[in-house]
Amino acid sequence: MDYPTLLARLGEGSAHPGGFQATKELIGQISFPRGTKVLEAGCGTGRTACYLASLGCNVTAIDRNKDMIQKAINRARISNLPVRIVQADAASIPFPDETFDAVFTESVTAFTQGSSAIREYWRVLKPKGVLYDRELAFARKLTTVQKKKLQSFYGLHHMRTVPEWLKLMSKSGFHKYSASHFTQMKQLANDNDPFQVIDHELFTKPDIVAMMMKNERLMSKFANVMGSIVITAWKA
Ligand SMILES: C[S@@+](CC[C@H](N)C(=O)[O-])C[C@H]1O[C@@H](n2cnc3c(N)ncnc32)[C@H](O)[C@@H]1O
Repeated sequence: MDYPTLLARLGEGSAHPGGFQATKELIGQISFPRGTKVLEAGCGTGRTACYLASLGCNVTAIDRNKDMIQKAINRARISNLPVRIVQADAASIPFPDETFDAVFTESVTAFTQGSSAIREYWRVLKPKGVLYDRELAFARKLTTVQKKKLQSFYGLHHMRTVPEWLKLMSKSGFHKYSASHFTQMKQLANDNDPFQVIDHELFTKPDIVAMMMKNERLMSKFANVMGSIVITAWKA
């Protein structure tokens, strides 16, 4: 089983640095007007997409993982929220150019090649549209051995420092971009997702339990260097 599938089977609702609390704070700061057309790229189990819809945004959510999509669809149905949910790759978004006012994404671009997903975010944004991208970042460059450890477990494509993220953005079509300060990864308290659906059978499988323990070990091993930034980028 790969890491995204494990997250899906655990029904993890906020699988990004800072958890749902950080998401709510960011959305609070942005304060999308009602009716804003938002694409959430890599929506996971749909927690953020539903939250945005509950605030009156017109939300479309994509994820490439089938299990995540199913959980997101169930969450939207149970919550009675109108979210359009589509299984799709962030590097090949199945919507026309200039469809959305905003693209919102958390801890997804690092799992892609990067440049192709960012080009797609730019393409589907309307003129003056804005990208909000919370991403895993590293306080310093990792060694090849460290990168391999994280890459093979999490399926990350790149482990970028803040300057490396900014360099990637400088090659995107965005006319202006900025990154928030670097926030070190913290251990999160369980924030009680009322719609989390956990596949409890996982806990009876020794290889999966070993995988969860490896996740804990990696998180504590890299705690000093791992963190996140929020990139905000504007289309001309
Ligand atoms: C770490 S999880 C974050 C999920 C969600 N954004 C959240 O914060 O809870 C990464 C998510 O990105 C999805 N993902 C990874 N690569 C993707 C891609 N190329 N296109 C669409 N989704 C992708 C995974 O399936 C997974 O749901």
